[in-house]
Amino acid sequence: MEVVVCKSKEEASALAAEIITKAVKKNPKTVLGLATGSTPVLMYDAMAKAVKAKKVSYKEVKSWNLDEYVGLAPTHEQSYRYFMNENLFKKIDIKLSNTHVLNGLAKNPEAECKKYERDIKKAGGIDIQVLGIGSDGHIAFNEPGTSLKSRTSVVYLTPSTIKDNARLFFKGKEKEVPTRALSMGVGTICEAKKIVLLAFGKNKADAVKGMVEGGVSQFCTASALQMHNDAWIFCDEEAASKLKLKDYYAWRSATKLQG
Ligand code: GLP
Repeated sequence: MEVVVCKSKEEASALAAEIITKAVKKNPKTVLGLATGSTPVLMYDAMAKAVKAKKVSYKEVKSWNLDEYVGLAPTHEQSYRYFMNENLFKKIDIKLSNTHVLNGLAKNPEAECKKYERDIKKAGGIDIQVLGIGSDGHIAFNEPGTSLKSRTSVVYLTPSTIKDNARLFFKGKEKEVPTRALSMGVGTICEAKKIVLLAFGKNKADAVKGMVEGGVSQFCTASALQMHNDAWIFCDEEAASKLKLKDYYAWRSATKLQG
């Protein structure tokens, strides 16, 4: 696990976007795993800037998103499909038909999840998986207590995640937030060839500490990334503030990024 400690979220987002831009330039058929939440927005802006500047094209890129709320239509403003369309897909030249988000309205959610896994495999697997992290250490919607080998399935949100995510719903009301989601599993995520996780702000400091320096545990599902051999964690100073070896990680990753 490589921890990149940046002065600001702008700097971290630019560095992470650069990794994706370079990968897509090298392989125009890159398969991306994408994330929602407020954290990747600046990175998506930087990716869009590179497209506008004609540095890169996403015409042949395919994408699979991490998760979707059960019960929300793709047109619902809080659905993750809507989020992706607004925050990235409309701003780059990706074909909408090449973008995939789990269907929160699927009549048979388990079949939808199985098909999602099959389609990812058919596409050759995910080359780069973008992740945020929940304040309880979750990745996608894999809450504490989820098997670290889990596959895409229907999951149940914790009260703390419902509280965190309520800010985006009608009048910030917790009862507006769906209690279930369809989510890629931890095992599914860990099969990506490369992982790029972003974490910003002091609200994420405990989760980052658990992910990087805690034991590998289903209590902090992001800690499974310790077992991945190409996982890059881009943090700002606040999110990295509880790491014991913060300065060492910063020096090591900066040296690797330069080389
Ligand atoms: C949700 C998403 C996660 C995301 C997390 C953090 O729970 N399912 O994929 O990482 O929110 O969101 P934010 O970036 O807004 O803090």
